[in-house]
Amino acid sequence: MRQMSNFNYSTNFQNAVFPNPIFTASGCAGSGKELAQFFPLGEIGAVVTKSIMVKARSGRPTPRMAETPSGMLNSIGLQGPGIDQFIAEDIPFLQKNGARIVVSIAGESVDDYGSLARRLRGVPGLSALEVNISCPNVENRGQVFACDPIASRSVVEVVRRVLGGELPIIVKLSPDVTDIVAIANEVISAGADGLALINTLLGMVIDVDTMRPKLGGKTGGLSGPAIRPVAVRAIYQVHQAFPKIPILGMGGVASGGDALEMVLAGASGISVGTATFGNPNAVIKIRDELANLLIERGFTTFKEAVGFAHRSENAG
Ligand code: SIN
Repeated sequence: MRQMSNFNYSTNFQNAVFPNPIFTASGCAGSGKELAQFFPLGEIGAVVTKSIMVKARSGRPTPRMAETPSGMLNSIGLQGPGIDQFIAEDIPFLQKNGARIVVSIAGESVDDYGSLARRLRGVPGLSALEVNISCPNVENRGQVFACDPIASRSVVEVVRRVLGGELPIIVKLSPDVTDIVAIANEVISAGADGLALINTLLGMVIDVDTMRPKLGGKTGGLSGPAIRPVAVRAIYQVHQAFPKIPILGMGGVASGGDALEMVLAGASGISVGTATFGNPNAVIKIRDELANLLIERGFTTFKEAVGFAHRSENAG
């Protein structure tokens, strides 16, 4: 990394402050145990944990992953230990390793989200909550709350009511909607402090030899570089409509240049997901590359670059 002494790389989501804007993406780094073998977790902005549910869950049938051009499909189905074990084991591990922690939660009902928020209320050492209302790998499409403005609003209202002002709430939206700005509007007015854009796109791969879907769950979430332009578009549109709401951008970021594109579109933080599977140090590499690119372009603070593509358009 270039000389950073005069460069302020910090970012914030409401009152949660992070020393740099590069986070893991929920679902791609579990609760940080595997990545901790490669770098100190405190060196990145935050670890966003795999979305946790009320009860332990075994997930969807295998195979759960399929390669696609410039990306992959996953159909994990929110496998996880459940909130009690997560609080007892994963949070202490992250704290002991100096990580800033963003806990991602997912529910099958509005009440589930309320229960999860109640269990997490008062747990020390958390920076923010990511409310995942957009997992594509649920049995019932009706449970993809983020595809329905009323359901999205109900989830965020309940989490906000339970937490009061205790923790910033970052709501993760789905790109599988006609108007993502309309969904963003609902969740912001229900009390979201920030947005995570975007979750995976619902996709399918059919094996032409077996002539059946490759994934055990048939459909899966598409991630990786193939979806980056969709993410950049969503971030740009939402930042344009709500310039004061911080956005955690994600979707196929594999280099500092990819991260910069999202920052210019309006992201205040970047989550790195699929790239980590190929290179466990991708988060560190992208953190350093992005800093260098910002310094080369004359920025003295990270925040000056957020949404710059909008400003230059207006100036021109
Ligand atoms: C999964 O566990 O199925 C992925 C979670 C998500 O995409 O929200």
